[in-house]
Amino acid sequence: MRFLVQSGFLNQHEDHYFLTPASRLLAKDDPFNVRSLLLLNHGQAFSKAWTELSDWFQNDSPTPFHTAHGKSLWDYIGEEPSVLGDIFNDALASDSRLNTNVLVTECKHVFKGLTSLVDIGGGTGTVSIAIAKAFPNIKCTVLDLPQVVSDLKGSGNLDFVGGDMFDTIPQANAILLKCVLHDWNDEDCVKILKKCKESIPSREKGGKVIIIDTVLEDPNQSNEFVRAQHNMDMLMMVLVAAKERTEKEWEKLFNEAGFTEYKIFPALGLRYLIEIYP
Ligand SMILES: C[S@@+](CC[C@H](N)C(=O)[O-])C[C@H]1O[C@@H](n2cnc3c(N)ncnc32)[C@H](O)[C@@H]1O
Repeated sequence: MRFLVQSGFLNQHEDHYFLTPASRLLAKDDPFNVRSLLLLNHGQAFSKAWTELSDWFQNDSPTPFHTAHGKSLWDYIGEEPSVLGDIFNDALASDSRLNTNVLVTECKHVFKGLTSLVDIGGGTGTVSIAIAKAFPNIKCTVLDLPQVVSDLKGSGNLDFVGGDMFDTIPQANAILLKCVLHDWNDEDCVKILKKCKESIPSREKGGKVIIIDTVLEDPNQSNEFVRAQHNMDMLMMVLVAAKERTEKEWEKLFNEAGFTEYKIFPALGLRYLIEIYP
């Protein structure tokens, strides 16, 4: 108990202990808890991948995760839903719950004038469900791998579609990519962005891609925020041989994929909102 008090997880008053904002984030009954994110990051599947880092530097395996488990993260999630799939989807949903409210209230301008939106790699739809509810005139479609969305049913202005974003992306005014591009190397990101560009109308007709992802700050800054961004950068390398990106690195991707302009809004904590236009 002393340790938990010292770490800021409990407050002590005489013989009584109380939850703090930090421990509230782990309480099952808190609507904004990120318990499954913690369990995912410290569970056996991810932890084993970290221990393979030094072997991976010396072998030909695509990722430390692959060195540890003999398959890619996405195959592992598909084939071992009881070990990782459910907790992975739940962890991402809990992460999304934290910033979705800000997205649909403080960043309303991003959705102005849209009538359709495809949320690529949208997981179990936490973000799209909130967008569909806040903006009933926008027809929202979540596209994710069949194993993620096959049991999910849409309703009203929300739909789920199983598929591969490298094959087909449904047409829409706008495409949302939340925490997707940081899972892929530059070459794959350019492929995904080019596919997105084919599925949206011209800029004059309102076409755009909305990206929610990290824009890496200078690593010389030593604060919690920058440390968390750089931890995530390492995690992406360990899981999927990908990375978080600086603004310069993002700009290079947008140019290579044929987009003409972008705007960055630092609105969502560790993540930024980026609009890119064809
Ligand atoms: C890091 S998660 C992001 C989930 C969600 N956008 C969020 O922020 O909570 C990446 C998502 O991409 C999906 N994904 C991976 N490969 C895909 C592919 N080839 N086509 C469509 N979705 C894919 C995964 O199933 C996963 O749901």
